[in-house]
Amino acid sequence: MMGTARIVFDRWDGRYAQRMGDVRSSATRDLFAAASRSDIISFAGGMPEISRVPADAVASAAAEAIRDFGSEALQYGSSEGRPQLRGTIVELMAEIGVRARQEDIIVTAGAQQALDLLAKIFLDPGDVIITEGPTYLGALQAFSAYQPRVICVPMDEQGMDTDVLAAELAALGPRGAKFIYTIPNFQNPGGVTMSAERRRKLLELAREYDIPVIEDDPYGRLRFDGGHMRPLRALDEDVIYLGTFSKIFAPGLRLGWVIAPRPILGKVLLAKQAADLCGSAYAQITAERYFAGTRWRRVLRDLTRVYGERRDAMLEALEEHFPAEAEWTVPEGGFFVWVRMPVFLDLKALLPEAIEHGVTYVAGDAFFPDGRTGRNCMRLAFCYAAPDAIREGIRRLAEVVEDRLELYRAFQVAGALPDTMTAREVPA
Ligand SMILES: Cc1ncc(COP(=O)(O)O)c(C=O)c1O
Repeated sequence: MMGTARIVFDRWDGRYAQRMGDVRSSATRDLFAAASRSDIISFAGGMPEISRVPADAVASAAAEAIRDFGSEALQYGSSEGRPQLRGTIVELMAEIGVRARQEDIIVTAGAQQALDLLAKIFLDPGDVIITEGPTYLGALQAFSAYQPRVICVPMDEQGMDTDVLAAELAALGPRGAKFIYTIPNFQNPGGVTMSAERRRKLLELAREYDIPVIEDDPYGRLRFDGGHMRPLRALDEDVIYLGTFSKIFAPGLRLGWVIAPRPILGKVLLAKQAADLCGSAYAQITAERYFAGTRWRRVLRDLTRVYGERRDAMLEALEEHFPAEAEWTVPEGGFFVWVRMPVFLDLKALLPEAIEHGVTYVAGDAFFPDGRTGRNCMRLAFCYAAPDAIREGIRRLAEVVEDRLELYRAFQVAGALPDTMTAREVPA
């Protein structure tokens, strides 16, 4: 629970592997406890609006899985995942412009497992990897157990800054990094989408320096405005693509997938076998049956509309209530808005106060590997609360922030803070 830190004596301390020393707890998971309090409006977790997924459709898919596929559903299955579900994934990928065959796909326990498996097959301690900065904290958590050195490339409204990337790669030299990890659509936590030109440039650089690219795309089908952007994988078949059913169906089934060149996929398969032998056939058949009909398309359209309304509510409330010193991104889809405040404002320190005011967010430092950068930033998830609650939550949050800013302004008038300390100075 937030605000009640307890120091737990661990008598096994000193016996754990060194790699666990770098693994931080997920700030979002820590906030789930606060989020479940009914008096608190949560902008913390990126939890899908699962009540929009029709329980009757899931129930009949699950019942079919047991009734019609009983022995298969309850038995061990293939480590690659069921051919039928991989067939469904082939079709889903074709709809977003990616050509893949069943043999190019391994079903994983969510995209999260794919992140862990990829880190396991690629990373030795001290290896360099490149990510956006800020980036998905679950990826940082998965990667950190394999002890890489993470270089964060900043983003602007067009996504990862490929000029900075080019400079980093030039300094590292060919094969100087083990992989580049990117979330091109509605980035978590940044909310920005990589432009077509940046996508091309990123792939060009990756080819020039011979570095694999991991494209993580959980939100790509949740677009509210603008046109579909071609995935990196559609532009280059060397790209390792991660997909998931978590945001288009249900995270509770723990189903995701990885598409990769054959040799890489072979290594992922070995790692998957070592991790869990195979995924749940029961969950996979349930998903197959759910996606066999057409209702899921209506559900997905409905979900996208709902998230779009929530995005609008959040942006309007930010305009209305937030101070002039704040800047935020305008996502065209997905779950998140990224807010940046003047550098002196420590939003991590402010969090207990925000919770007292009945609102939560994730402070920006969770999304950087050093755990320090980004404290003046926060990720606001608009996916979870209803529009009225979002407006109220932003109003409460603005009050908390405004209190601190008054102090800042007073110092600035007194000349104690340089004028140049603006939000723009902060690394993304
Ligand atoms: C960018 C990103 N990658 C991966 C995941 C993990 O998703 P899954 O539920 O498929 O494990 C998430 C979940 O929020 C995410 O935001």
